[in-house]
Amino acid sequence: MGCFWCCMNQKRVERKESIRDYKESNEDSFAGFSLGNDSFRRRYITNKLAQYGKGDVTSQFFTYQELSAATNNFSYNLMIGEGGFGRVYRGRIAGKTDEVAVKKLDKHGYQGNREFLVEVLLLSLLHHSNLIDLHGYCSDGDQRILVYKYMPNGSLEDHLFNWRVGERKPLEWDIRIKIATGAARALEYLHDKADLPVIYRDLKASNILLDEEWNPKISDFGLAKLAPTGNQIHLTTKVMGTYGYCAPEYAMTGRLTRKSDVYSFGVVFLEIITGRRVIDESRPSEEQILIAWAEPLFKDRKKFHLMADPSLEGRYPKKELHQALAITAMCLQADATKRPAISDVVNALEFLASGKNKEQPSVDEDGSSESD
Ligand SMILES: Nc1ncnc2c1ncn2[C@@H]1O[C@H](COP(=O)(O)OP(=O)(O)OP(=O)(O)O)[C@@H](O)[C@H]1O
Ligand SMILES: [Mg+2]
Repeated sequence: MGCFWCCMNQKRVERKESIRDYKESNEDSFAGFSLGNDSFRRRYITNKLAQYGKGDVTSQFFTYQELSAATNNFSYNLMIGEGGFGRVYRGRIAGKTDEVAVKKLDKHGYQGNREFLVEVLLLSLLHHSNLIDLHGYCSDGDQRILVYKYMPNGSLEDHLFNWRVGERKPLEWDIRIKIATGAARALEYLHDKADLPVIYRDLKASNILLDEEWNPKISDFGLAKLAPTGNQIHLTTKVMGTYGYCAPEYAMTGRLTRKSDVYSFGVVFLEIITGRRVIDESRPSEEQILIAWAEPLFKDRKKFHLMADPSLEGRYPKKELHQALAITAMCLQADATKRPAISDVVNALEFLASGKNKEQPSVDEDGSSESD
């Protein structure tokens, strides 16, 4: 036992040192990566992983042929999604039982070599039950491909906004709280618990993927940044991320802190509660920007029920709705210093989900459920 802890501590110290190395080279432009042939690039990634991960790395290298075979030559029929970086296919690697999701980065898309490498390095080094598992990657020729665990329930975005009556059921209240809690735990791990503290920068409904039991896992680490430590509170960086989810101070000044992620969490939680997209041009003009629509409603408890997703048809405990909206409002404060730390958000959500304030949901006239 003593030896086990000794080894664990040693490993931790080594990881801390390796992380310091990574921090010191945080401005590493990965400039050398695109030069050279396939085996040079493999060696480049392997060396970086060995340098920063000290061998504690689970992702593996795949050839283009292996991934082409896994996805039936990137068949359109196996395509499960498409984002700004490229298409995502469902597949199965020869000799393996688990299904995988294969993201083939578009050569003309927004993700470049740097984002590809940041994603490979961070997801190879960070491990938590609410982060997506990266099985491996391919960098043959000018191909850049990422291989993840396949998440059978797709993204939160699909379930909140893209469902049609008869096709799939709207998410129940308890599942919504489970998803919000898991996403907050992922951020808590990244901000406070990982050996490598990270600001995620890209929390949004499409980056929260769901397994068969509705456990959320956050994905897409290409924009993540190592968090400042010590007395330094913010980083100044080019504004990246998705419009609507970005904290206002970050969008305006490029000053990035952990509280920028807390703001994005507040936006996602509001989407989860309301079933409304952060920006929805199909709605009447006064309802297109979710935060602006919600602002007057937040000020009047009697109107809180108007914020609950109508597809819930009142099936939520009123007290939990109020608590959830209170958490959301705190995360969305314009003054970043007034936003809670994500660990406080996790505590509040765990209390909410613990059932200590559970009451039977029952629908009343205004469409909300009883008891307060
Ligand atoms: N591991 C996975 N398992 C199952 N489905 C996935 C997986 N990864 C991605 N998808 C699906 O593919 C879609 C596209 O994902 P992708 O990350 O490429 O883009 P996005 O997040 O929608 O947009 P953006 O490019 O702005 O990040 C997701 O919304 C999801 O439905
Ligand atoms: Mg994504």
